[in-house]
Amino acid sequence: MEAAELLRALDDEHARGRAALTAATTLEELDAAQVSVLGRKSAFGQLQRALGTLPDGDKREVGARVNAIRADLVATLDARRDELGSVAQQAQLAADAIDITLPGRPPRPGSLHPLTLVEREVVGVFTSLGFRVVDGPEIEDDWHNFQALNIPPDHPARTMKDSLYVAIPGHPELLLRTETSAAQIRTMQSQPPPVYIVSPGRVYRRETADATHLPVFTQVECLVVDEGITFAHLKGTLEVIAKALFGERRRIRLGPAYFPFVEPGAEVGVSCFRCDGVGCSVCGNGWIELLGAGMVHPTVLENCGYDAERYTGFAFGLGVERVALLRYAIPDMRMLIDGDVRFLEQFGVTP
Ligand code: FA5
Repeated sequence: MEAAELLRALDDEHARGRAALTAATTLEELDAAQVSVLGRKSAFGQLQRALGTLPDGDKREVGARVNAIRADLVATLDARRDELGSVAQQAQLAADAIDITLPGRPPRPGSLHPLTLVEREVVGVFTSLGFRVVDGPEIEDDWHNFQALNIPPDHPARTMKDSLYVAIPGHPELLLRTETSAAQIRTMQSQPPPVYIVSPGRVYRRETADATHLPVFTQVECLVVDEGITFAHLKGTLEVIAKALFGERRRIRLGPAYFPFVEPGAEVGVSCFRCDGVGCSVCGNGWIELLGAGMVHPTVLENCGYDAERYTGFAFGLGVERVALLRYAIPDMRMLIDGDVRFLEQFGVTP
C-alpha cells in the first residue's frame, strides 16, 4: 500500500472509530466498540501494522498520523466512558431515591427511673441547705451496722430486722446493710465535729414485697452533730424538708418510736397529700409515715470518739420509695421494680 492510500484509509478508520465509540449507549456497548475500533484485529490495527511495509522515507509522516489518531480515539473512548458512567450512576441514584421529606424514625430516648428522680430531689433539698453528701458501702460489718449503733450482739433490736448475711469464707461478720445509719458511724470516724451530712443508698432486709414494702429499698440518712443541737433543730429541719418535697401546706407529726441509736426517738409522718390530714383510702388516718428520727444517743457519739458532753446531734432515715409513692400517687411500691416500660416512660425526664 502506498503512503497516500494508507493515510486516506487511516482517516476513514478515524472517522468510523469516533462514530462507533460515540454511538455506544451503555458501558457494555462501549466495551464492544473499543474492541472493534482499537483491538488487535480491528481495521485500524491492520493499518497500523501496514506501516512496516512503507518505504523508510514515508514511515515518519504516516507513523505520526497513526499515533495522533490512536491518541484521539483513546481520548474519545475515555470521555464516552465517563459520560456513560455518570449516566449509570444517576440511574442508580434515581432508583435508590429516598424521600427525605418523610418523617424520620428517631431513637426512643430513655428516661430516669422515678426512684432516681426522687432520690436526686431529696438530696438536692439537703445540699441546698448546705449538707454534704457521703457514700457508704452496701456490704457492712457487724460493728458498723449494729454494735456501734448501740445494738450489741444479744440486743432484741437485731430481730426487728431480718438481716441478709454475705457468704464470704472467714468473714461471718459481713452482711448487706439493713439501714443507711451505718454511714453515720463511718462519717463520724472519719472527721471531727461539726457534721452536716446526708447519705443516700440501698438497704436490704429479709422481707416479703408488698404494696408498701420491698426487700431492697432506698434510704436517705441525715446526720447533724454540733454544739448546742436540740430537738427543735430536728423538727425545724424536718418541716423544711417536708414542705420542699410535698408543698407548703404539708404538716408533719412526730410520734414516739424506739431506735437503739437515738434517744428520744420518733416516727415522723406527713399530712396526706390527698385528704390533708382528714383520713382517706391512701393514708387511712390522715398521715403517711415517712421516716425514723431522733437525737443521736450519747453512746453512739462515744463509740465514734466524740465528746458526748460537748456535742449533741440529730439523725433521721427517710424511705425514698415512700416519697416516690406520695409524689406520684403510685398505688403499689412493687411497680417501682417491675420494670414495666409503660409505667416507667410516664416519668419521661431524659438524663
Ligand atoms: C430505720 O431504718 C432507721 N435507721 C431510721 C432512723 C435513722 C431512725 C436515724 C433514727 C435515726 P425504719 O426501719 O423505720 O428505720 O425505716 C426508715 C424508713 O424506711 C421508713 O420510715 C420507711 O419510709 C422506709 N422503709 C422501711 N422499711 C421499708 C421497706 N421494707 N420497703 C420500703 N421502705 C421501707
